[in-house]
Order: sequence, then C-alpha cells, then structure tokens
Amino acid sequence: MTARTRDIEKAAGALRAGGLVALPTETVYGLGANAADPAALARVFQAKGRPPSHPLIVHLCGPEHLDLWVEDVPPAARLLAEHFWPGPLTLVLRRGRRVPREATGGLDTVAVRVPDHPVALALLAAFDGGVAAPSANRFGSVSPTTADHVRAELGDAVDFVLDGGPCEVGVESTIVDTTSEIPSILRPGGVIREDLETVLGRPLADGSTSRVRVPGQHPTHYAPRARVVLVKPDKVVAEAELAQEHGHQVGVLVPPALADAPVKAHAVVALPRSMAAYARGLYGLLRELDQRGCDLIVTSLPVQQGLGLAIANRLRRAAGPRPPNDTATNAIRRQRGVSR
Ligand code: TXA
Ligand code: MG
Repeated sequence: MTARTRDIEKAAGALRAGGLVALPTETVYGLGANAADPAALARVFQAKGRPPSHPLIVHLCGPEHLDLWVEDVPPAARLLAEHFWPGPLTLVLRRGRRVPREATGGLDTVAVRVPDHPVALALLAAFDGGVAAPSANRFGSVSPTTADHVRAELGDAVDFVLDGGPCEVGVESTIVDTTSEIPSILRPGGVIREDLETVLGRPLADGSTSRVRVPGQHPTHYAPRARVVLVKPDKVVAEAELAQEHGHQVGVLVPPALADAPVKAHAVVALPRSMAAYARGLYGLLRELDQRGCDLIVTSLPVQQGLGLAIANRLRRAAGPRPPNDTATNAIRRQRGVSR
C-alpha cells in the first residue's frame, strides 16, 4: 500500500467516524464531512464559525451518483454535468430526500459537484458516499489553496488533512442554478460563462433574477486581514504611494499594464498577464501580503470576462464594507473618492 492510499484510507475512515477531513480539489481546499451525517455537518459549521443557514456543496465521485442526492435533473443540468464534470462547476438542483436539512441550510435545493482532483476523487471513491465540503477557511476569510493554509487556519479543528499539492484553478467553482427555466450563474468561478453558454447553446439568465435564495453570498468575504482598496488602474501607483506616505504598510498588486512602474510601497507584487495564473495565485498573494505585515492592499479590477469575472467578484468582496470603526480604509475612500 502506498503512502497515498494509506492516507486516503485513513481519511475515508475519519469521514465514516463522523470526523472532518480537509481535502484538495482543483479549486480550493475543502473541509469535508459525511454529507449524510447531520452531527458531522454540525462540526463543519462549528469549525468554520459559519452560520448554519449557509448551505454546503455536496461532492460526488461521478455524475452517476447524482440521482441519489437530487430529486430531478433537468436536461440543461444533465448537459452541463456531462460536459464539465469532473470540474469546477457546482449545480444547484432540487434536494433529494436523503439530503439532511443541515447540508442545505433548510433550502429545498442542494448544490452538488464532482471535483477534478485525483486525491479528491480517490477519497470520494473510497468513502463511497457524498462529502459536504465548504472551503476550508474560517468564515469570511480567504480560501486555502495549499494544505499549509488549512493547517495554519484550522489546525486542530480538522481530524485529517489530505495534502494534494497547490490547487490548479485557485478560485472556487462556478455555481449555476439549474432549477429555473433558464440556468443562471449564482457565483462566477473556475468554469467561465462563455463556455457554459457555448455548451447550453443559449445565453444564461441574469443571476440576480434567479428565484433561488443564496445565503452565504455575503458582500464581504474572501477577505485578508489587511484592508483592500480598489482603484482605477491608472490610479494604483499614486494611491498606493499616498497611503504609504500616510503611514500605512501598503501592499500593491500591480496590474500588468503598469508592470515597469516603480512603486514606493511596503510590498510590491507584479500581477501575471494570464488570468489563469492570476486566479491560481490570488488567495496565496492575499495571505502573503498579510504575512508581510501589510495593513492595506491597493489594486484594480481585471477586465471582467473569462476568469476575470471570478477574480473581480472575489476582489470586490475582499474590499467589501468593514466595521464602521475601520477608520483607515474609510478615510482613504472618503478623501480620494475611491471606487469599490
Ligand atoms: O470550489 C468550490 O466550490 C469549493 C470546493 C471546496 O468545492 N467549495 C466552496 O464551498 O466554495 P463554500 O461553502 O465556501 O461555498 C459554497 C457556496 C455558498 O456561498 C452557498 O451560498 C452556495 O454555495 N450554495 C450552496 N448550496 C446552495 C443552494 N442550495 N442554493 C444556492 N446556493 C448554494
Ligand atoms: Mg467559502
């Protein structure tokens, strides 16, 4: 038996015993529990500090298990599943009877996906059941893209951490509501809108018109400790330097167009031109700037097409409103008329 199969067996055993297992996926690391075990699900919410009304994603080892977990699979969902699974796509469908209420926050829908990671798939096959897994971070903070991120943030709260190396995609799955007549994106992610529309052969509906309630899509989320301020691309250098002059420890994520500009700030990172590389590195960069002691991160939004849509969504939420006593960011926003 290889070390890897031994680890998979141990992790599957922990799931069977009602424990929590951190598992790698192609998007981010998940905090997994037996999706059919309400007590294990309660431990997930407790470990994350997440309100119990926020539903979880049930991970399956193949689309052939769909019918065990959902009530009805409309043709559009079937098409998307066939095309994109395993992969970074989550489908919201009508909840099957065996799904405990704890997994769906009481909703009558359930989110399911088949992750594209050999270690996750091996675990799901060995466990032979559904694994409910939110991202393996504390509620509201940055999702983990390495096993070390999970250990640093959740440590003893997890029974077993499966290390599958750094995540390839780096941002979470795209969530598509397929319970309405025309599917819509509830959260942009690793599968891009353009590809979904090509496969469906029609435009997706506007997500804001979906009838599905989406608890857990908070305006502030994916946030590092440092405050994040978003400005127009041509203002990034000037805003960063101004905040640094005002005594902040500023981290700057410099857009590719400004790569050669010298910036006087505490930590300066040149962003890659490729959106795939940007997505892969985004959460690691936010964590790194925290670790380097930055109290403010200045950057701009990428163009919102392809993966840029998911990156922009995460950056906006990372820059979301903080408590009113956060005078630092609020003062800068007021002074400079900074956009969010
Ligand atoms: O890539 C991913 O999706 C990662 C990996 C681990 O698979 N998981 C992840 O889970 O991002 P989490 O819990 O951090 O985010 C799941 C999102 C939540 O924002 C929740 O609102 C939404 O999925 N969701 C879950 N069930 C839903 C449902 N029935 N209807 C609408 N939204 C739902
Ligand atoms: Mg999450």
